[in-house]
Amino acid sequence: MPGRGREIPSLSTRHLLGIVELTRQDILHVIRTALLFRNRNLRPRRKSGLLAGVTVVNLFAENSTRTRSSFELAERRLGADILNFSADASSFAKGETLLDTVRNIEAMHVDAIVIRHSAGLVPWFLAERCTSVIINAGDGRHEHPTQALLDLTTLYERWYDPARPEQTGFEGKRVTIVGDILHGRVALSNIYGLQRLGADVAVCGPPTLMPKGIEELGVQRFNRLEEAIEFSDAVIMLRIQRERQDRALFPSTAEYARLFGLNHHRLRTLDKELLVLHPGPVNRGVELDSEVADGPCSMILRQVENGVAVRMAVLVMLLSEIRCAGRGRGCQGQELNEMQMRAEC
Ligand code: CP
Repeated sequence: MPGRGREIPSLSTRHLLGIVELTRQDILHVIRTALLFRNRNLRPRRKSGLLAGVTVVNLFAENSTRTRSSFELAERRLGADILNFSADASSFAKGETLLDTVRNIEAMHVDAIVIRHSAGLVPWFLAERCTSVIINAGDGRHEHPTQALLDLTTLYERWYDPARPEQTGFEGKRVTIVGDILHGRVALSNIYGLQRLGADVAVCGPPTLMPKGIEELGVQRFNRLEEAIEFSDAVIMLRIQRERQDRALFPSTAEYARLFGLNHHRLRTLDKELLVLHPGPVNRGVELDSEVADGPCSMILRQVENGVAVRMAVLVMLLSEIRCAGRGRGCQGQELNEMQMRAEC
């Protein structure tokens, strides 16, 4: 945790493009700062002025419920000015390019752009050409860094042992990512993040939904869900991404659910705790049955709760320099420390 007298840590990168670019220390700083915000979010007075005067644009060129809402709540709770921008209500529809759109928005003096786009690597493309801080809210099938950070925060809460502060809590833990690895962007970000923190990572799913050469990332591969859950301390169940599939990659939804769906019958056979995560939206009866999705092993709503805190942490860590320009370094640290002191009272 950032403690009294310490400044809020910043990331080693100017933008948040992908987990691939973050160090283990970056990830731990985000998680620990997020946990501070999570506690703050439980209190009736959740707002602060940590990002007062900073303007953030939420540019979502693809649908979203959780990511978009939680970024907006995070920005509001930090006191930032917000511009929400929807592709379907913009001049994209008239043929304006993404780069022209972003450059026009930047001409209005904004500080950061949170971007979700159906094409992979768009955040990297913008970061090279624009002046704002770019935050990736999901790029095609590629990365979804804030989703992985909130998943890691949720597991850290369960696994970190304060009696062993030199460890992350992930050492020796086994996590399997199950389902549509090929079309999902959560898998890659989580593989990088879990490995940085010391977990053993596996994947499981139909061969047609598995990228070629996935083992080269240092992950074990299971073809049967039973083997995967026997191996695992936690599973991250991924949604079947029908909108990204241009052909049928498994015989039927019922067949998929039978082979790779986690249901309460399967959980009952285990004699250990298995944490069940899902980034949402859940296809009930496909990846998870309702007994599992709503049951005691499910971390789903905790993930969503942590999502706001993680996005607050990322925004403050990336944008504090902008807010502090002219006020002297350390101004965020002072405010954060005051916030922590109030939380401790
Ligand atoms: N997990 C996730 O990215 O959900 P949304 O698509 O609703 O943002």
